[in-house]
Amino acid sequence: MAYEIKSVKNPEDKTVLEQKHVPFIQAPDKVKKGEYFEVKINMGKEIDHPMEPGHFIEYVDLYANYYQLGRTTFTPEAKAETTFVVKLEESCTLRAFTFCNLHGQWEAKKEITVE
Ligand SMILES: [Fe+2]
Repeated sequence: MAYEIKSVKNPEDKTVLEQKHVPFIQAPDKVKKGEYFEVKINMGKEIDHPMEPGHFIEYVDLYANYYQLGRTTFTPEAKAETTFVVKLEESCTLRAFTFCNLHGQWEAKKEITVE
């Protein structure tokens, strides 16, 4: 098995698996230093990932670069969607890592400017 974290390979032609699994990060492009803001994350963007006992999103982690800001865990009864409220001290890359019990780890990122 390859230790692969999957992401969108071609944004113009996303596969169905990519549409269901890649985290969709919704956050401002610019925020003020030290002020709380919301980061909403859905799995996935175009298609809601199934949430049933045999196949579900187990968690999503949010990072600023490689510093962990938080984690939301899900049961099959939950929607694969969460909102973190965070603050930042400097511009960084927000990264979301999610885990599907059948399809493994998926990553998305978004640049964010702190002023
Ligand atoms: Fe899956």
